[in-house]
Amino acid sequence: MLAVAVLAAGKGTRMKSNLPKVLQPLAGLSLLERVIRSTENLKPNRLMLIVGHQAERVEKELVNHPGKPEFILQQPQNGTGHAIQQLLEPLINFSGDLLVLNGDVPLLREKTLIELLNHHRKLESSVTLLTANFENPKGYGRVFCNREGEVISIIEDRDCNQEQKQNSLINAGIYCFNWERLKEVLPKLNSDNDQGELYLTDTVALLGNARHLEVSDTTEITGINDRHQLAQCEAILQERLRQHWLKEGVSFIDPASCTISEQTIFGKDVIIEPQSHFRGRNNIGNCCHIGPGSLIKDSDIGDNSSVLMSVLNNAKIGSDCTIGPFAHLRPDAILASNVRIGNFVEVKKSNLNEGCKVNHLSYIGDANLGVNVNVGAGTITANYDGKSKHPTRIGNNTKTGANSVLVAPISIGDDVIIGAGSTITKDVPNGSLALGRSRQYNKENYNEN
Ligand code: UD1
Ligand code: MG
Repeated sequence: MLAVAVLAAGKGTRMKSNLPKVLQPLAGLSLLERVIRSTENLKPNRLMLIVGHQAERVEKELVNHPGKPEFILQQPQNGTGHAIQQLLEPLINFSGDLLVLNGDVPLLREKTLIELLNHHRKLESSVTLLTANFENPKGYGRVFCNREGEVISIIEDRDCNQEQKQNSLINAGIYCFNWERLKEVLPKLNSDNDQGELYLTDTVALLGNARHLEVSDTTEITGINDRHQLAQCEAILQERLRQHWLKEGVSFIDPASCTISEQTIFGKDVIIEPQSHFRGRNNIGNCCHIGPGSLIKDSDIGDNSSVLMSVLNNAKIGSDCTIGPFAHLRPDAILASNVRIGNFVEVKKSNLNEGCKVNHLSYIGDANLGVNVNVGAGTITANYDGKSKHPTRIGNNTKTGANSVLVAPISIGDDVIIGAGSTITKDVPNGSLALGRSRQYNKENYNEN
């Protein structure tokens, strides 16, 4: 049996934020979400989140998480040992291993956790903790071992004397405990230390038979206490994500200038030009060409499509589409295949069927366009009357002239031609030419000079 407990009750004062530290985002996922994800494939029998500071907000974010977390309230927050003491009741009948993770250590790999569990179970230790050798161990608890390599004590940086501070073996704050043994010693913790708190690290000396596993990649155990470390972790994660997609057949012209969210998926032979950014959940098809200079958020793009210097937010684009430069596709812009959206065009909550072209300077909102509609330069769907939004329907193969205004609600048939400069306020039947502009009047010989 395996139980996982994540320490997430601390305040995170140094972040200087209204958002609880464990909810800060990294490449589109919160720190806590990342920590939980790293345990997913271990299939824990229990997943317990120890919450305290802004507990309600943390619970609200994670209550529907598929890992079905149990929320354990720690109030007040009297140290990491006190936090784990809160498990004595909920785990009263539990037997097995307890994996303790820090909510502010988000880069840990699943592989490392598996190694920790295997090491712990093989040696039947009371506790096994992750350690690392740091050139600059300042701020971390130091780990002291005997000749056999067993851990005999952990001393916090602030409690170390000068000699102890020289020890560069640090405690990463990630532990696997034998729960039956841990529950016997938890009540014995005392607060005889510089912070006057109950330290989980003090259980090591009380337990005996404690071991450690040194991590090979020290970036994995980077903890986040301030915005500087948050930015460092973001950089590490972005590098990991780019390396992953490079291996999967995506080309980056200037990788360091692009950012990717965890929930973006690319097909093969995608080319990503400099300064392109992917946020939220995206699905980018094969052979797409994105950028330079694009922002793609929560959008799907079909195969062979290109997006140049444009912003997509919650849009769905079919295959063989060309977007931009300087286009803005807003929520529920749904494009079939072979659609062309050109410069300074904004599309919102509209369906554009196959072969539509909106090449220049247009606003298309709350509209439904049939196949092969050609929207002339400067065409506007006037969808808002100051109170509500109204729909525009345009039939197949229709062409709107330059500078047409289509005042919604309105329905324009198939094979219609709308004269340039028209303001169209009445429905137009199939096959018609619609003109909605004042006649031109020429006063001859007016300028005699
Ligand atoms: C802790 C370890 C230290 C280790 C370091 C690694 C102890 C005493 N020290 O120190 O040896 O090197 O982590 O990063 O454990 N938390 C609670 N309730 C509390 C206090 C903290 O849930 O009452 C949570 C925090 O939200 C955080 C985690 O526990 O996620 C660690 O607490 P923190 O105060 O950051 O401990 P460190 O001083 O970093
Ligand atoms: Mg910390």
